[in-house]
Amino acid sequence: MDARFSAPGASALEPIGVVGCGWVGLVTAASFAELGHAVHCRDIVTERVAALERGEVPIHEPGLSDLLERNRDRLHFTTDMPPVLERAQLLFCCVDTPPTYSGDADLSRVERVVDEIGDSQRHALVMKSTVPVGTGHAIARRHEGLGYVSNPEFLQEGSAIGDFMRPDRVVIGARAESAAFADRVAALYDPLEAPIVRTDVASAEMIKLASNAFLATKISFINEIANVSEELGADVAEVARGMGLDERIGPKFLQAGIGYGGSCFPKDVSALKQLAGNSGYHFQLLTAVIEVNELQKRRTVGKLKKHLGSLVGREIALLGVAFKPHTDDVREATSLVLAARLIGEGASVRVYDPVAGEHATDLLPGAQVCASALEAVEEADGVVLVTEWPEFRELDWAGEVRERMTTPLIVDGRNFLDGAALVAAGFSYEGVGRPRAALAAPSPA
Ligand code: UGA
Repeated sequence: MDARFSAPGASALEPIGVVGCGWVGLVTAASFAELGHAVHCRDIVTERVAALERGEVPIHEPGLSDLLERNRDRLHFTTDMPPVLERAQLLFCCVDTPPTYSGDADLSRVERVVDEIGDSQRHALVMKSTVPVGTGHAIARRHEGLGYVSNPEFLQEGSAIGDFMRPDRVVIGARAESAAFADRVAALYDPLEAPIVRTDVASAEMIKLASNAFLATKISFINEIANVSEELGADVAEVARGMGLDERIGPKFLQAGIGYGGSCFPKDVSALKQLAGNSGYHFQLLTAVIEVNELQKRRTVGKLKKHLGSLVGREIALLGVAFKPHTDDVREATSLVLAARLIGEGASVRVYDPVAGEHATDLLPGAQVCASALEAVEEADGVVLVTEWPEFRELDWAGEVRERMTTPLIVDGRNFLDGAALVAAGFSYEGVGRPRAALAAPSPA
């Protein structure tokens, strides 16, 4: 363990409760346990709690299993709320808030948790779940006695433990009535030595949604620059490099590709747009961000058609199912939309993912989930690289892959492969925003 995080006198540290043992809940629980706290976790799914008690981790997140294992003595799992309420006063709400059909967030799970805690003056609900702006005030109005602190999470799947331990900032929003609880929440993060943003509840809620919406906007922006670059002969990787060195812009989230996915960006962008709409404001920019993200997937199909003509009867391999590498999460993954669209165009689709394939079988009706990348590319007329798993770079493209494919066509949805080498090996290669000239003459480092 990093010495910075070793918490002396664990017994003196405040015990905490975590409600909801999904990805956010488990990362939060394991990380606070690592900082020395006793953590009392509650989930309503009996099998999940039983698995966690046996030391099994139901999700794929690098480092999480080790952290849970190392802190087993401090972590307690139960399906019941009363023992958690008895042992902890700060209760981190980590249940999910999935989108409804209209794009609003479904708050039913949050409401159930609040109702279970009731008006207890000894407790504070610490909201980690992403909720619409105004949720905290609504809860505080309904349960005047209960403390309420907004403490949104900014963890990225695949690097969540590091993100928790080394946050850019910790946001804590509370009303004056809950200031003492907010102080206690802030104290939990002391060992991380991160900037703490103390603010009101509505602003804390907005910081979370606005951050995700801004990052999604950055991605849609660079994707449009990529599309224009394809027409005008610029290379988006070079453009992003040059833009990113401007400190006001920054280099992150300027990676052009086939659009953002996952359980957060699509949901949170829609939720903010919907929230604005409900308040009478038309959030024009976010409408465009969503539309660009959808169009980006269509362009991928267009690139296949540009080379193959009709896709009827064509064999297409999708490499990668997870919405990004190092996770098994397939929620709102681009692969699912692409597979459905390709099948709709009459193609046969084979998919492979190092960890997420099995999870997605039910979500990929009509597609064949393969056990290896080589099996997926067998007799393919085109390969689409959907997720930038490192192992895809290690494939013997010029040899084994080329031999197996019927038509040597690669659409690299993440600009992840060495396009120039693939072209030299006889492939037709389409990246995102990388015109042929850029592939033929890579710029000096
Ligand atoms: C995102 C945010 O980055 C976290 O800060 C936030 O806490 C989290 O949502 C959440 O609300 O819980 P995450 O969904 O794990 O995290 O994934 P990201 O790494 O942000 O990637 C999202 C999508 O954008 C992926 O599909 C990724 O491939 C895509 N992306 C990302 C790009 O297309 N280009 C980029 O430059 C960066």
